[in-house]
Amino acid sequence: MISLTSTDPTQLDVDAVVVGVLTQGTSVVPVGADWLPAELARQITQDGARLGITGAVDEVRRLPGTGLRAATLVVTGLGDGPVDASTPAGAELLRRASGAALRELTGLDAVAVALPAPDADAVAAIAEGSLLGAYAFVRYHAQDAPVSRLEVVTDAADDPAATAALARAEVLAAAVHGTRDLVNTAPNDLYPAAFADAAKAAVKASGAKGLKVTVLDEKALAAGGYGGLVGVGQGSARPPRLVKVAYAPAKASGHVALVGKGITFDSGGISIKPAAGMEAMKSDMAGAAAVLHTVVAAARLGLPVAVTGWLCLAENMPSGTAQRPSDVVTIRGGTTVEVLNTDAEGRLVMADGLVAAVEEKPDLVVDIATLTGAQVVALGHRVSAVMGTDDARGEVVDAAHRAGEQFWPMPLPTDLRAGLKSKVADLANIGDRFGGMLTAGIFLQEFVGSTPWAHLDIAGPSFNERTAFGYTPVGGTGVGVRTLLGLLESRAS
Ligand code: BES
Ligand code: MN
Ligand code: ZN
Repeated sequence: MISLTSTDPTQLDVDAVVVGVLTQGTSVVPVGADWLPAELARQITQDGARLGITGAVDEVRRLPGTGLRAATLVVTGLGDGPVDASTPAGAELLRRASGAALRELTGLDAVAVALPAPDADAVAAIAEGSLLGAYAFVRYHAQDAPVSRLEVVTDAADDPAATAALARAEVLAAAVHGTRDLVNTAPNDLYPAAFADAAKAAVKASGAKGLKVTVLDEKALAAGGYGGLVGVGQGSARPPRLVKVAYAPAKASGHVALVGKGITFDSGGISIKPAAGMEAMKSDMAGAAAVLHTVVAAARLGLPVAVTGWLCLAENMPSGTAQRPSDVVTIRGGTTVEVLNTDAEGRLVMADGLVAAVEEKPDLVVDIATLTGAQVVALGHRVSAVMGTDDARGEVVDAAHRAGEQFWPMPLPTDLRAGLKSKVADLANIGDRFGGMLTAGIFLQEFVGSTPWAHLDIAGPSFNERTAFGYTPVGGTGVGVRTLLGLLESRAS
């Protein structure tokens, strides 16, 4: 539960109050905190160094709440600022500082966030950051619960724009949390049919109007000519699914299709991966999870744009029924592909999904996939890649910038197409070793025809195997949801 309050933070009946500090040279200064009792303000500025308070981004310290009704004052770093929420950088600073604080405060019941919040933009950023930070994946073992009652302290508590921002932040955070939960779920519990059930359950739980889920099972996939999904899924005892989640509002201005890679576990298949690190491949369905929860969020917000999500679900396993290197599969629509490496499976299932999406003639197709290790090599763990037609790629980059997600534009060099030539089929599923992320993009391009299209490779940022930071936990991050939702919102307005 999250609400706005204009009450003096010293009087709030909560367990902790969060205040922001800026680094100024060698000292630290609380910001937007006239209400701070003199004793606490003095401690922070005079004894900052001794208390380990420098104001650095992601730094969170607790002090006794002397002079506050709350037992604890939590100091969170805003770096050098500025904390102007009307700029993407300023808003992201507020998101990170509030997220880092709430991530620290699991186990507490009620927390007030008293960062500078003069307007609806700031409320939006603080609410998003706080909710995104207040996350825990509790399915498999007992642990401290995230903070359940959040109060955002603001002078704009009576501003309808601030109330609307809060409501939107709740929908957005629920979508990101839902995505993280799916990514974190163990692959013995989340296989293609279970994912399809989870899609139905998420749609039902949302209570939103205009949503419809259609599931194609392995028989329907074979009958429909979805040779990529069938081929990749045939090695597993758990057969593949293609799930369509359609949101059709009464008045739609345009239609966007979203296609997500949903490999519920990627062992590599017969071209098996090394054992070290293979466990992270439970996250190879992060794109499909982001698509599902973006469509649900669009419906919950009642956006006046039609959105069709396509979840390409399969488990990539080695077995006596698995596809072999040198097998030829036929993608829906007739393109034949020689499978030279069964670990390049994502592009096979995505090809089927893209063809299905394009058949409905949407105005724009955006696909999102943990597609290549080369993405991580190129951009690291925190920056995702976006390729595609110029306008669509630019639209994604802009939406990401506004949403506070890092998506960087990448090219689709035509010379790499030659590497995908096969001696026996229309295409091979692997090409040049160098520029592997771009080659995967070039492969997908074959299946979108002339539809405006963006391809998002989130291999690195979708799953955090290192340490938590800002509002980003360890494990599933939910990356992509905020960008996709922001893109749909700007199409809707
Ligand atoms: N799911 C992987 C890509 C991946 C790697 C995602 C690391 C997240 C983190 C994908 O299916 C894969 O195995 N790609 C191969 C392609 C290669 C065989 C052309 C890769 O990147 O090595
Ligand atoms: Mn693979
Ligand atoms: Zn994969």
